[in-house]
Amino acid sequence: MRPHFTYGIFLDNTSKSYFDMGKEEAERYYFAADGGDLDYYFIAGETMRDILGAYTGLTGRTALPQKWTLGYHQSRWGYITEDDIMDVAEKMRQCRIPCDSIHFDIDYMDAFKVFTWNRKNYKDPKKTLQKLTEMGYKPVTIIDPGVKKEDGYDVYEEGIKNGYFAFSAENELYVNEVWPGDAVFPSFTNPKVRSWWADKQKFLIDMGVRGVWNDMNEPASFKGPLPDDVQFADEDDTVILHKDAHNIYGHCMAMATKDGWLKYDGRRPFIITRAAYAGTQRYALVWTGDNQSIWAHLQMAIPQLCNLGLSGFSYAGTDVGGFGADTTKELLARWVQVGCLSPLFRNHSAQGTRKQEPWQFDKELLEIYRKYVELRYHLLPYIYDCFFESEQTGLPIMRPLMLNFEKDAETYEINDEFMVGEWLLAAPVVTQGTTMRLVYLPEGAMWYDFWTGEKYKGGQYITKKAPLDTMPLFVRAGAVLPLYPLMQYVGEKEVEDLTLAVYSGIGNYIHYQDDGESFAYKKGGYNAYVFSQNNGRLQIKDAVKNYEKPYKGFYVKICRDGVTALSETPGEYLNAE
Ligand code: GLC
Repeated sequence: MRPHFTYGIFLDNTSKSYFDMGKEEAERYYFAADGGDLDYYFIAGETMRDILGAYTGLTGRTALPQKWTLGYHQSRWGYITEDDIMDVAEKMRQCRIPCDSIHFDIDYMDAFKVFTWNRKNYKDPKKTLQKLTEMGYKPVTIIDPGVKKEDGYDVYEEGIKNGYFAFSAENELYVNEVWPGDAVFPSFTNPKVRSWWADKQKFLIDMGVRGVWNDMNEPASFKGPLPDDVQFADEDDTVILHKDAHNIYGHCMAMATKDGWLKYDGRRPFIITRAAYAGTQRYALVWTGDNQSIWAHLQMAIPQLCNLGLSGFSYAGTDVGGFGADTTKELLARWVQVGCLSPLFRNHSAQGTRKQEPWQFDKELLEIYRKYVELRYHLLPYIYDCFFESEQTGLPIMRPLMLNFEKDAETYEINDEFMVGEWLLAAPVVTQGTTMRLVYLPEGAMWYDFWTGEKYKGGQYITKKAPLDTMPLFVRAGAVLPLYPLMQYVGEKEVEDLTLAVYSGIGNYIHYQDDGESFAYKKGGYNAYVFSQNNGRLQIKDAVKNYEKPYKGFYVKICRDGVTALSETPGEYLNAE
């Protein structure tokens, strides 16, 4: 960024590459690659938004996900048996923690063989998934790229017969070790292999699975990294060496997975990937892999997710509570406060660590946890709108302050606050033992404290009390926030009346409404409402009316300085045009 212009550079090279952003010499940035073409783009514009729009115009944008995927996800490595999974499912409902998905880590498989189900621990997996579905859960399963080397295992045998796996430099089947022991690696860089892998997804879909979590797809291996000269089949059946394919291995696996879900499920695919390349956002979302339950990793979550957003990955998340090591009550309470405003909201932890489902500590923690998961569910329509917009503009959901307030240089170094879309500013506590923090409110706007309604002028630092149950959260004046009534999962209730929280000021807001899962919106199958307000006077206009279930009415909540009032009855539908 420079005072009157901004630029971006995108190096499109999949070989081993290097970036030095002023480390060796403060005055110099450089990038380089060991092989491949010197293929890079220079993107010019006036603002960071221009650059991001152009960059995602080139590499692709995060598509609107199914709405349930924006709910809360519970995971752990591992829930071993069908009883373990059902216990979590039931406990979640008993504790009134809204939850849309439970994730199945590697233990659901038979001997860690992909596209199999462990019949010892699951008598009838289809029935278990059916039960979960009836309770409102959408099951998600992990899939790794490493295929167990085992005679008689159909996935292995099919791949061998067709030459779908990587070869060593000596032209022998390349074997390394992953979860199942000796394993082989599909050449996802080849379209035939991708289409085979896409067909494999049918096994999960027929079982009742609603999304796939692609892991270990760097590819990771336990007996040292894959050597540079391991040979994969390329697009045109020629050879591509590991050193050139490594950076797109996860990308190509995600591509194959998405194709399978489009073909056999037909809804908007929910695919998580650990490894990605520029543009993978077209196929999958990412999570930040194996963090640790330490404060430094909670702090890191904010810049990591903001940077992913600035790189086209609007849909991303961290393991809430931390994956490795034992979490603590305080850390988990602070992490759920960041997690509830992260695009992907999933609690996940490793085998052997202290359990970290919301009820694993005490009543206080459970209540704090519930408060923030409930906040997430109230905000679902707002977050969904951010995604709708992201597909059109490339702008992320979770943003560094500077993306929204580029003229305010004070925002440039702030990495412990973030914006959610245009209207919400979160200032979570990310340090141990802290119960008060400084919050910078950007210049050029007025701000309301989300919890108390107090009003502040932008362009100043304020101190905010932040006891363990409070994450300082602010709403930009002029906002009209759409809110859902409390639900335990998406689809539990039909939302007939939408609540609008009007934060007195001047602003326009576009709200989208559709079926939340199909591709009809791409052909205009949605409703768009424009909410305009002028210092608390609200005008509602339905700009697009194609979805058959428009809202019946609106509840309006008006927030002026320190005063909030929720109307008792749904407001009349005001088609002010
Ligand atoms: C990897 C993943 C982690 C998962 C584990 C077991 O470490 O990153 O999320 O739980 O493998 O599958």
